Amino acid sequence: MSSVKTSPAPPPGAAADWTIPQDWRRYTPAEHAMWDRLFERQSNMLPGRVSPKFLQGLDVLRMTKPGIPDFDELSERLQNLTGWRVVAVPGLVPDDVFFRHLANRTFVAGRFIRTLAQIDYLQEPDIFHDVFGHVPLLANPVFADYMQAYGEGGLRSLGMNALHRLARLYWYTVEFGLIREDGDLRLYGAGIVSSYGESLFALDDPSPHRIRLNLRRAMRTCYKIDDYQQIYFVIDSYEDLLRQTVETDFAPLYAELDAVADLSVDALLPEDDVLTHGTQSYASASTACLEKEIG
Ligand SMILES: [Fe+2]
Repeated sequence: MSSVKTSPAPPPGAAADWTIPQDWRRYTPAEHAMWDRLFERQSNMLPGRVSPKFLQGLDVLRMTKPGIPDFDELSERLQNLTGWRVVAVPGLVPDDVFFRHLANRTFVAGRFIRTLAQIDYLQEPDIFHDVFGHVPLLANPVFADYMQAYGEGGLRSLGMNALHRLARLYWYTVEFGLIREDGDLRLYGAGIVSSYGESLFALDDPSPHRIRLNLRRAMRTCYKIDDYQQIYFVIDSYEDLLRQTVETDFAPLYAELDAVADLSVDALLPEDDVLTHGTQSYASASTACLEKEIG
């Protein structure tokens, strides 16, 4: 995330809010086939691992239809369910633009799809990550409200030197969150559910810590951008995630967090509510506090 308070001008061809046409008709058969291949791999593996609300979202949005989704069709269904829309953007957008879209119940998505060489790892989020990973839960009214509340919190926080803390909250919930449902851990973060390897690792591997989410703890914790996570934060319900977000007064929390040291990705605190004390055996060489843009 950049630290600008007002966004630079959008790139040529983009509207004032940075959106661009999806140009759905321009996708090639090979691009549709890549979507289908990724979709089949994830949708075969996720039942029993992912939050049932995610699968319900795929179903009610009719995302099981073959080929890359058309954002207009998807938005029409989503708008009827929760008032959200999906729009295309040319890449990462400035923070204020991103937050404003979320606050207005608009999800910005990349329109390109990865190549075969990038099937298991790519740095910029593509349409499979953005749409398969993020959109199904936007059909859930509570999670949809959380995303809007996050965007509103982001807009209020501009100028408070807190973007890295908001990015961590997004990272540990929207991107890499776990949920405990009916006593079982399930996946809901888009970064996990759109990744074959991390969908297995996040639930099964003994290496990472898994602790219950509180906002203060998550916003104090660094994260890894280029490998599986060393710590996952677990929510009890989407209602609890929304409640924590709307009940938190962020400005004093930022001030409080500025007075204490950040926590590394492998740290545990005595007050943590630990579900899994990880072995950290997987941890790679990259443990620095390097953080990237949200989205
Ligand atoms: Fe994402």
